[in-house]
Amino acid sequence: MSTDLATFIRGLPKAELHLHIEGSLEPELMFELAQRNRIALPFDTVEAIRAAYAFSNLQDFLDIYYQGAGVLQTERDFQDLTMAYFRRLHADGGVHAEIFYDPQTHTDRGQPFSVAADGILAGMQQAEDELGVSSKLIMSFLRHLSEEAAFETLKQAEPYLDRFVGVGLDSGEVGHPPSKFANVMKACRERGLLINAHAGEEGPPEYVYEALDILGVDRIDHGNRALEDPALTRRLVDMGITLTVCPLSNLSLCVVRDLKDHPMKRMLDLGLKATCNSDDPAYFGGYLAENYLRTAEALGLTRDDLATLARNSFSGSFLGEAEKAKHIAAVDAYVAASASGTV
Ligand code: ADE
Ligand code: ZN
Repeated sequence: MSTDLATFIRGLPKAELHLHIEGSLEPELMFELAQRNRIALPFDTVEAIRAAYAFSNLQDFLDIYYQGAGVLQTERDFQDLTMAYFRRLHADGGVHAEIFYDPQTHTDRGQPFSVAADGILAGMQQAEDELGVSSKLIMSFLRHLSEEAAFETLKQAEPYLDRFVGVGLDSGEVGHPPSKFANVMKACRERGLLINAHAGEEGPPEYVYEALDILGVDRIDHGNRALEDPALTRRLVDMGITLTVCPLSNLSLCVVRDLKDHPMKRMLDLGLKATCNSDDPAYFGGYLAENYLRTAEALGLTRDDLATLARNSFSGSFLGEAEKAKHIAAVDAYVAASASGTV
């Protein structure tokens, strides 16, 4: 008898390529850290926090998200946050993650650069040691701030650059195009960092062009609105650019009205290298496996489609070629075993 879809998804080896670690702060941990650090929260209960998570757009979410991050005060807080995420990922059958964090969210409230960086790196090491889950760290610039502020962050990051695989660009997209960060991203590339940018989440296809042509990105985060432009879509297919797509995030932030309208199936059918990710799972109602499952149910994704998403998550990762091949072989073996009923 074949396994049910949820079981198939949980057993499928997969990587997460779009996860903001601050977005994995569950209300329970938010309360615990607020108590530990004697910080007053504007909510009395976990339920009141969850009730506030009804967003009509990206900015609505960001306002609450930056406020929530205020409870993260010490290296240990960041390590606990990171480890809590990796326990969820491991339970979901995730074996590798490339995670974002926003240094400016923390340094702008007076925290030394080292606190978040050291805490998150310690959590990543603990996840590797205790769970066997590998990971890489990407620091993101907040695009609502200036390019000068991003340069200042890059300067503070100098001692850590060999521990960061890349840089990203996130926060409120509209009005802050990739071109605003052309110079700092060039400086990052010259330092050997790989380049990511959120583009086409709320912003227009032009922002995706800018991410490609001006920043020379290695990966596009989201990319949904690229589908509005057939020439751009063809280019993304021809270049084999990985899109880190986040279905439950898109639903929560009203990028799509219903998961049935989500472009994931269309992306796969067009030959785009789409991956499935959770973005900010504590705020959007689901971790990695839940994103696969609810998208599959809404769009009728086949097990072949799900295996393609899992393979794309490894081929689009920043792992070395041998590691990519090893993980993709594990996906192939799992799919074969699943088809023959041996798992
Ligand atoms: N920061 C955290 N999540 C984000 C998202 N979905 N878009 C832009 N910035 C973010
Ligand atoms: Zn994101």
